[in-house]
Amino acid sequence: MKILVTGAKGQVGWELTRTLLPLGDVIAVDRSQADLSDLDGLRRLMQAQQPDVIVNAAAYTAVDKAETEPDLAFLVNGEAPGVLAEEAKKNGALLIHYSTDYVFDGSKDSVYTEQDSTNPLNVYGASKLAGEQAIQAAEADHLILRTTWVYTARGHNFLKSILRLAAEREELKIVADQIGAPTWARLIAETTAHVVRQSLLERQQGQFNSGIYNLTSSGETSWHGFAQAIVEYARQQGNQNLKTRNIHPIPTTDYPLPATRPANSRLSVAKLEQHFGLQMPNWETAMRLCMQELV
Ligand SMILES: NC(=O)c1ccc[n+]([C@@H]2O[C@H](COP(=O)([O-])OP(=O)(O)OC[C@H]3O[C@@H](n4cnc5c(N)ncnc54)[C@H](OP(=O)(O)O)[C@@H]3O)[C@@H](O)[C@H]2O)c1
Repeated sequence: MKILVTGAKGQVGWELTRTLLPLGDVIAVDRSQADLSDLDGLRRLMQAQQPDVIVNAAAYTAVDKAETEPDLAFLVNGEAPGVLAEEAKKNGALLIHYSTDYVFDGSKDSVYTEQDSTNPLNVYGASKLAGEQAIQAAEADHLILRTTWVYTARGHNFLKSILRLAAEREELKIVADQIGAPTWARLIAETTAHVVRQSLLERQQGQFNSGIYNLTSSGETSWHGFAQAIVEYARQQGNQNLKTRNIHPIPTTDYPLPATRPANSRLSVAKLEQHFGLQMPNWETAMRLCMQELV
């Protein structure tokens, strides 16, 4: 079994190169080996490698920068996944791809299911939706896993930023009117391993169906709630560097960014849990496990 992982130096990609190991030979490629803005190069790589499973963890993830680089965002997030799907179709491979809550406009007053209508508010969300559609059009066996608010102990993310800011400032102001589920990249990667394994068995039995699944932690919070939980747990861990005394909730309007974000990023994981027999842990449980790696 040959499993090719793109974006191997990203948050999810790095974790995948570990959690997929028991399933087969993992070929981990980063941007230098598989540049998703080079569609011909990508095709050549897939034809040379002929993987049984492609896990696409590479993406243009600079949400605000995408507003001024729409062509590149659409090439990497919109077109390249379609090329991967076309190559998967030619080789009879299974494609696993990640997408985002940003395909929604956040106006729903309850959790989003996989059936809800999409309406992205920003270029990044629109480019990721284009990627979903390109994959679906290619008709390879595929799963699109939509996730939210990803963090891990490595790399740049909200959790790491809050720990850095909490060591520098007495007062923090954090947006409190966007809600979602912070999701540890390790959890995404471990869940992906279960999903790949079951999907391969279903394919052998002729019972596999392509589709979209939401894959996040369970529970919900705001960015403000997430920041409070990070600082509180860092204190419990005995972190001596914390200067922050107060974390003030602010509205999104007080923290303007180039890309508009959805107010509601909550995704139901019921379909994933039922189909794959999983139970997604609460976001705070996972956050604490991740933070234990930082001390
Ligand atoms: N991060 C989030 O909060 C979030 C939320 C919802 C969904 N998602 C989705 O989850 C998936 C994994 O995201 P992540 O958090 O692991 O992102 P990440 O940490 O930003 O990693 C993305 C990886 O993609 C690589 N990449 C960027 N442009 C590329 C290109 N042209 N060719 C090849 N590789 C390229 C980056 O390489 P460099 O290191 O060289 O830049 C990076 O290693 C993505 O599909 C993302 O859209 C993420």
